[in-house]
Amino acid sequence: MARPPPEVRLAAVPVHVRGPAARFLSSLSVDRSLAVYDIAGSIAHVEMLGESGLLAPEETAGLLAGLRSVGREIADGTFPWRPELEDVHTNIESRLTELIGDLGGKLHTARSRNDQVALDERLYLRSAVRAVAARLVALEEVLLARGEEEGATPMPGYTHLQRAQTVSLGHHLLAHFWRFDRDLDRLFSTAERSDISPLGAGALAGSTLPILPDRPARRLGFSRRFENSLDAVSDRDPFAELLFDLALLAVHASGLGEEIVLFATKEFGFLERTESLGSGSSLMPQKRNPDVAELVRGKAGPVVGALVSLLTTLKGLPLAYDRDLQEDKAPVLLAVRNVTDLVEALTSLLASARFDRAALARAAADPEMTATDLAEGLVARGVPFRSAHEAVTGLFRESAGAVRPDQALRRLPELGEDASRLLDPSTALGRRVSAGGPGPKAFALQLSRARTRLGLRSQSLSSLARKVEQIEELVNKEGT
Ligand code: ARG
Repeated sequence: MARPPPEVRLAAVPVHVRGPAARFLSSLSVDRSLAVYDIAGSIAHVEMLGESGLLAPEETAGLLAGLRSVGREIADGTFPWRPELEDVHTNIESRLTELIGDLGGKLHTARSRNDQVALDERLYLRSAVRAVAARLVALEEVLLARGEEEGATPMPGYTHLQRAQTVSLGHHLLAHFWRFDRDLDRLFSTAERSDISPLGAGALAGSTLPILPDRPARRLGFSRRFENSLDAVSDRDPFAELLFDLALLAVHASGLGEEIVLFATKEFGFLERTESLGSGSSLMPQKRNPDVAELVRGKAGPVVGALVSLLTTLKGLPLAYDRDLQEDKAPVLLAVRNVTDLVEALTSLLASARFDRAALARAAADPEMTATDLAEGLVARGVPFRSAHEAVTGLFRESAGAVRPDQALRRLPELGEDASRLLDPSTALGRRVSAGGPGPKAFALQLSRARTRLGLRSQSLSSLARKVEQIEELVNKEGT
């Protein structure tokens, strides 16, 4: 083997910054968490260099064994992290050279940290989507189970937070299910759109060496490689999309958190104030606060902030790589952590929540909520809706909300014998026959469709899981 050129020696690893600038330039504290993906990417890169003849077989073997040793050190916590070496990529390369000698200097052949970090981020995104999606599926399972239990529990449905029409608690819980179902859609399609390997784009313009970018793409489970090297090193759409998905998911969770807070108040009284909702007050002995739901709401804020933070970093950046891009990881890591935490918290809260069916039924018995049903009763007998609306408004105004059947009949004679049935709140749920509504038949169909959706989710989840495991295996494989 030819004598290695001097620039591959450890002392010459270029990104070795000292002094006050070092801390400013360093991203190690954040990008350390990408280490396993960095090793996987390097393994696939070295294999490709071997295949393309840029490395001799024994060099390939030496580099792969060295990378796997570094991987083991990272996994078991013995890796000697050196903060003065700017980032995770430089730390790993330096350690590799320490372990296997000057051969380590061949690792970076035809590669830049620019395509390297873009690759690491896409591999990370895959695991992050899997981690969030798995938790979200668990939350959906709980919503579905609780929704099924409460399909015949009447409660007031609200608009403007005013009692509006009767729904069921099950229908209400399933409304949250469908929101989260769209969040899952978004997460999976974000993972699909970012299923492109940027490795081989180099710093920005590919390489003069005969590299084969399709090889590491396939090895790492990507369905294709980049089409344009400038785009490949600068594209942060995957992170921007992921942050939007997480922000909207957190907004959805926060809305549910807010309802839990409201429903646990004495004013609503729909939720028993059990221990799983939160803790007591350190000052007021009688208090039991809904802290868990409040923090679900609270932790959503920084996730929205993370989206804004990344978009602001990206805005106005010229092609291709700019160092500003180093700031892209912290918001994503924060958002992924917050969302996994808050989804887990919401899941266990809902699994153990005790709804007060009697309180819900009392609230649902408010006669005002039959007003629309009365108007629709008139419409069924041929009265134009606008006139029906006006007549029922008058009826409720004159009887201050507590309408008796005889009053209704006097004002709305067209109702005939329907008057007392329509005014009976206990039949309100059964009357709702339209598709997608809270009535029993529509609800049963909704439940079965939700269950089918959830079944499909576990398939997408396991195909993503297989890709994630493929990366772990690549790093952990013994020998070679
Ligand atoms: N730490 C850098 C980042 O996260 C890695 C890429 C550095 N590239 C460079 N040309 N300085 O973006």
